[in-house]
Amino acid sequence: MNYDFETVINRGGTLSLKWDATHQGEGLSPVIPLWVADMDFAVVPAVSEALRARAAHPVYGYTTPPGAYFKAVRAWHSHRYGRKIEPEHLLLTPTVLHAMSMALRTFTSPGDPILNMPPVYFPFFRMVALHDRASVEVPLQREGTRWSLEAKALETRLTEAFRAGTPVKALLLSNPQNPTGRVWSRDELGFLAALANAFDLMVLSDEIHADLIAPGKTHVSVYDLPELASRSVIFAGPNKTFNLAGLAISHVLVRDPVLRSKLKRTIEGDFFEQPNLMAMTAAVAAYENGGPWLDELMMVIQANLATLRVFLESWGLEACPLEATYLAWVDFSPVIGRLGFTDDRGLARYLEETGRVKMTPGSMFRTGGENHLRINLATPNLLLVTGLSRLDGALKARQTQP
Ligand SMILES: Cc1ncc(COP(=O)(O)O)c(C=O)c1O
Repeated sequence: MNYDFETVINRGGTLSLKWDATHQGEGLSPVIPLWVADMDFAVVPAVSEALRARAAHPVYGYTTPPGAYFKAVRAWHSHRYGRKIEPEHLLLTPTVLHAMSMALRTFTSPGDPILNMPPVYFPFFRMVALHDRASVEVPLQREGTRWSLEAKALETRLTEAFRAGTPVKALLLSNPQNPTGRVWSRDELGFLAALANAFDLMVLSDEIHADLIAPGKTHVSVYDLPELASRSVIFAGPNKTFNLAGLAISHVLVRDPVLRSKLKRTIEGDFFEQPNLMAMTAAVAAYENGGPWLDELMMVIQANLATLRVFLESWGLEACPLEATYLAWVDFSPVIGRLGFTDDRGLARYLEETGRVKMTPGSMFRTGGENHLRINLATPNLLLVTGLSRLDGALKARQTQP
């Protein structure tokens, strides 16, 4: 290992949502946060160096256009994936959610039905609701620990909506999928593409986790699907890949010139013209230097998954295959039933308040998420083991309660 993924870094007092905004409770041992998707690892050293160097210069004026950022993104795709990105397809955006929100506003209208496939990253539902669109939900299906598209139900639901005169206008796609950890195959994406073409849907593909792919797996980007070129927008960026979420920078890929000019106008209308100075500095350094760091990170995540599996086994539980992301997805039904918890929220509350370890309750991701917990594995193994020991201890304590 060339990078340090073992040192436990004290993140207290750094304005961290994961640590500082986790309710700690006076006189209690600090809660170990294994919830929100950011990592407890130090970033690529080149990023810290670039930020330090830029911060040392005491003038922080307006920035140049995002040419340096786009150049780094294109080189990243070319070297890592052999993918050629046309420079004109790229637009700079603040965060991925902000970008998706702008796209939803641009390509759909109030009242429009928008397709979601839960369990899925829950801000998608909020985004639809906040823009006064209507969420149409066709849940994924599950066989054991494997999640997949519910092909028949998708077709039926889209047909019904079309016949009822309320056609679905867009699909919010999590690709790869948060929280189930699925990497969608070319066939699955091809099926969605065929539906999108048949029912005239825009495909808004959130690919923020696209670089966080388990060894041996391959992510298929919607950017590479010619059949979706005229009806898709791809959202991506360095925030998850390189743990830069607090810096808030992202980009979109739009092949179609008409769609691109429409989205560009929305972005301009929001007066988002200037890349943030520190974000751009960090992102360029990350894309230029972060490949070897990312390769090691993905091995660390697999090792942490193995650690988790050992803990789960003793409770008769199993994590879903983690094809992508650093977020494990686990069905706790047997434990919830046996130990008399109301549901996953009750379990998560008990673990946080009594066990002092915080995980995300699955029902936040809606249908299919019931009785699950999402566990963030992007933390030093020592901290993960401490969190899991607390989970173990809290469940045992519950077991022995009269
Ligand atoms: C699937 C997915 N999309 C978007 C985001 C948020 O990205 P951003 O902070 O760039 O809005 C996250 C963060 O966890 C995520 O998991």
